[in-house]
Amino acid sequence: MPSVNLAGPDNAIDPLTMRRAMGRFATGVAVVTTSLDGTPHGMTVNSLTSVSLSPPLLLVCLTIGARSTDAVTRSGRFAVNILSARQEQIALRFARPGEDHFAGLDVTHERHGVPVIPDAFAHLECAVERHFAAGDHLVVIGEVHSICEREGEPLGYLAGKFSDVVARGHEPVHWIF
Ligand SMILES: Cc1cc2nc3c(=O)[nH]c(=O)nc-3n(C[C@H](O)[C@H](O)[C@H](O)COP(=O)(O)O)c2cc1C
Repeated sequence: MPSVNLAGPDNAIDPLTMRRAMGRFATGVAVVTTSLDGTPHGMTVNSLTSVSLSPPLLLVCLTIGARSTDAVTRSGRFAVNILSARQEQIALRFARPGEDHFAGLDVTHERHGVPVIPDAFAHLECAVERHFAAGDHLVVIGEVHSICEREGEPLGYLAGKFSDVVARGHEPVHWIF
């Protein structure tokens, strides 16, 4: 199939075209959780990226103006809960704007009172190292202070749909730069 340039006449890329193209980059799914003045906050993300191994840094891109974005920057702490294959309903719950995402959900609290999702594939607790606005999102860099991993399979996300991630069975390939 030939490739098609989807830029408009003035070379502008509209948001839906951008979303659709980036949707071809398969990711996992995570929930960013935090607590501000005793109130838990959380939102589903797939913008999670590893930034640095030493020091251990990661980043998430959070919509400017979302409740959780404000809570993360004001509290200075957050957890990244990487969801397991069976946690699609958790991903949907934490993506519904305006709802109490924690209603009826059993969470545990880590040091500093940050809530974490039970049975997540992994969770990483972070302190906000820095944040800066980039377009309509806030890039939040977190320094990782503790990590917890569980056996299981991750939840995947591709082209706007949740998916399974199937390993090909060869030896792990670890890239160290
Ligand atoms: C699979 C998936 C990935 C998402 N990734 C992000 C993301 O990386 N950054 C973001 O700001 N919103 C993302 N969203 C949307 C937020 O989860 C959604 O806007 C949420 O309701 C915001 O929560 P709050 O405003 O109640 O804090 C994603 C949603 C889904 C379903």
